[in-house]
Amino acid sequence: MPDTRLVERWLPIAEIGIESMRERGSMTALPATYYLHVWWARRPLVACRAAILASLLRSDVDRERFLSVLGILGDPVVAKERIAAASRNGERLADGGFGYARAFGYSPSESERDWVAANTVGSAVVLDPTAGGGSVPFEAVRLGLQAEANDLNAVAALLEYATFDWPVRHGLAVLDEFKELAMAFVSRAESGYEGVFPAEPEDVLISGYLWARTIACPYCAGLVPLSPNWRLASGGLGVRLVPQLGGGPGTEGRACAFEIVEAVEQQSEGTVARGDGLCPYSDCRRQIKGDEIKAQAQAGRMGEQLYAVVYKQRVIVKTKTGRKREKWVRGYRAPRPEDDNSAQIQAALDEKLPEWGAFDFVPSERIRKATRPQNPSATACPCGATCSRPANCCATAPAWRCSGRCSKRTVPRAN
Ligand SMILES: C[S@@+](CC[C@H](N)C(=O)[O-])C[C@H]1O[C@@H](n2cnc3c(N)ncnc32)[C@H](O)[C@@H]1O
Ligand SMILES: [Zn+2]
Repeated sequence: MPDTRLVERWLPIAEIGIESMRERGSMTALPATYYLHVWWARRPLVACRAAILASLLRSDVDRERFLSVLGILGDPVVAKERIAAASRNGERLADGGFGYARAFGYSPSESERDWVAANTVGSAVVLDPTAGGGSVPFEAVRLGLQAEANDLNAVAALLEYATFDWPVRHGLAVLDEFKELAMAFVSRAESGYEGVFPAEPEDVLISGYLWARTIACPYCAGLVPLSPNWRLASGGLGVRLVPQLGGGPGTEGRACAFEIVEAVEQQSEGTVARGDGLCPYSDCRRQIKGDEIKAQAQAGRMGEQLYAVVYKQRVIVKTKTGRKREKWVRGYRAPRPEDDNSAQIQAALDEKLPEWGAFDFVPSERIRKATRPQNPSATACPCGATCSRPANCCATAPAWRCSGRCSKRTVPRAN
């Protein structure tokens, strides 16, 4: 069976799955490629490496060697069971439970790359025509293979150059060039941002402003911030809405203030579920139909409201050896009046827009109103709804797998 590839016979899905979860599990120690720029739907590197390798290698290669080229240098399935048992007993495992570093950090050695070349069926060029953030070509390059990448989005294409094309061509000189350009960019951006964000104490860095879309309640005229829940972090931290009733239903001044709370029970109930809204004002509390929300959005009447500010604060902690160490701790606060500088921003925009328009920095072409194209794969359900995911549709799948889009489904739930 000279042309049979490993993937046709075997793929250690459980191991690759666990390593992919490990790769994405940390918010602060992601693969270096992530830090170049955000890209949507980046694929885990370990899964990409496995897919490339298993598609190229002969089916009879040494499977242990395959796993070690992937960087899976232990048994993640056993490790996961050990971790689960420890957590049931309230124990913490000293080495995190795995006993080896996360697989994506492992770069195949020269002898492993030679092994890949020697066991590859034919001569391979890895092509990813929709490469996005570049996980597939990046891993192909790490395996010593020739790679071709493409994307119709110019940002993705630039990312691909920076992730593997320039480093391969120019080596570490790219890093020096990047640092120089980044510093020049930051110093220009910093002066441009002056006064745009509200001032903060020196030991506080803002990480983000959390906004909710708003509509006006059609029954009481209150401003309704929409969110399916008001959770901010695990462990109960969240937001409580404090609706200001003004002079009662229909009067002006009905808006919500916000408080940060520490327990799940203190958090407010979500104000939108399955497309319908719920008015949070105690003298109304009516359900707002999804069609009403859509109508306000289409009429340009949907607004937004800041409901929380995420920050990091510098604190000094003592290490086990008694030394002082600086640490940045994440926190959340309710919005303050000075956070709302929209009038100031609008004034700055009004001043700048004519100049930006003259230089054609801002697109000003009219966009023709288009009707939404019909999804060619949409399937009509027996219930009368149209589902864009036929595999999950109750027309073709058991009811329990229905995506929920077929909201009118009448098919009984399977046992
Ligand atoms: C899911 S992302 C790819 C993610 C990538 N595998 C990674 O790990 O970052 C899909 C990419 O396909 C690109 N794309 C979609 N249609 C395309 C087309 N017709 N030609 C080229 N690229 C396309 C999109 O711009 C997007 O970057
Ligand atoms: Zn209301």
